[in-house]
Amino acid sequence: MDQFTYQHGEAHCEDVALKTIAKEIGTPCYVYSKASLSGQVKKLKDAFSAYPTLLCYAVKANSNLSVLKEIFQDGMGADIVSLGELERSLKAGVKPTEVVYSGVGKREDEILRALDVGIYSFNVESKAELENLARLAKQRGKIAPISLRINPNIDAKTNPKIATGLFSTKFGLVESEAMELVLFAQNNPNLELKGVGCHIGSQITDLKPMAEAVERMVAFARRIIADGHKLEFIDMGGGLGIVYDKEIPPSIDQYAEILISAVKPLGLRLLIEPGRWVVGNAGILLCTVLATKKTPKKSFVIVDGAMNDLVRPAMYDSFHAIQPVLLSEGIEGIHDVVGPVCETGDIFGSDRSLPAMNAGDLLYLRSAGAYGSTMASNYNSRTKPAEVMVEGAQFKTVRRREKLEDLWRDEEL
Ligand code: LLP
Repeated sequence: MDQFTYQHGEAHCEDVALKTIAKEIGTPCYVYSKASLSGQVKKLKDAFSAYPTLLCYAVKANSNLSVLKEIFQDGMGADIVSLGELERSLKAGVKPTEVVYSGVGKREDEILRALDVGIYSFNVESKAELENLARLAKQRGKIAPISLRINPNIDAKTNPKIATGLFSTKFGLVESEAMELVLFAQNNPNLELKGVGCHIGSQITDLKPMAEAVERMVAFARRIIADGHKLEFIDMGGGLGIVYDKEIPPSIDQYAEILISAVKPLGLRLLIEPGRWVVGNAGILLCTVLATKKTPKKSFVIVDGAMNDLVRPAMYDSFHAIQPVLLSEGIEGIHDVVGPVCETGDIFGSDRSLPAMNAGDLLYLRSAGAYGSTMASNYNSRTKPAEVMVEGAQFKTVRRREKLEDLWRDEEL
């Protein structure tokens, strides 16, 4: 259910008016709905309830401690890609035995900590990584659980910057090389092969590449098993798309059905790593209009949020719906909504139809829960925005707005 609605002409998150949050916390500010988060996790659990599945939330999508705590409490594990994500997840209460560690490059200190806390699996992407892992596991007197990430050379039909399943990308292992690593792991007392997997990309709205990918993983798992090796799981990564604009992504039930029906005959546990699907539409970015201006070609609405707060439009040309906080009867106009950063690319939305906006008015960008705050930066020496969690008629700050002194806290004069 959409938790961002208009009540009496005013935008709300659950039962809190966005203008109240703007007044008390200031803008720019990320606002998350707790009901939306737990609702998504519940839908995910229901969709996969018919089959043993480990649901590992991709922490990179939104790693705010309160967001993580809610997701882990609701029953998900974690897919992490760095020591920072591991420590955050532990702090937020994840069970180490439900953590998988993805990523094409892992440092020694990162591997050692993950070994020490006893994660579920390292998703290995190269021979060098596996050798390193074996050496460090030996040093610690441990057995490292591993999964081999395959590059299936499948086009996920998404933005090329977030497509990860083709040979032209840095990700995963070619199957023939992975087969050699199976033997390497088999012969090494400090490694235990548990799974195979892939992640072909993000914001995928077409089920066909997903179906193809799972068939390929099942076929590969069969080869490994036929060679006399044991396997525990198949990891299909993340990637299920959401609605930003007019996309029609598959339903979570269709997605689950495709994965489960392919993996079930093998009897292996299924693992998925959804990020965007869980948090994307559970958050918005609330902004205040600073000024409006016109050129002979364009009408601009300049807001206090910018590409440093939400980089997706500038980085991927991605679409975020932009809505006024107060519905008005006024005449709609066509505007570019832009931030104050000194780059032409600092545009949140081009040619958007909005009611007349004046300095001091509030508007918000939808679908900003995933890859919003986690990709925020201090560009232009702008402090990172506050983050607020709404629950019913209550809200609380879950990340205070950065202070000016934070900007140079670690610098020397
Ligand atoms: N697993 C692995 C190994 C991944 O690399 C990713 C995302 C996921 C899971 C989660 O994918 P999701 O379910 O969220 O699609 N910053 C970009 C998205 C980058 C995705 C990177 N990997 C954006 O704002 O669109």
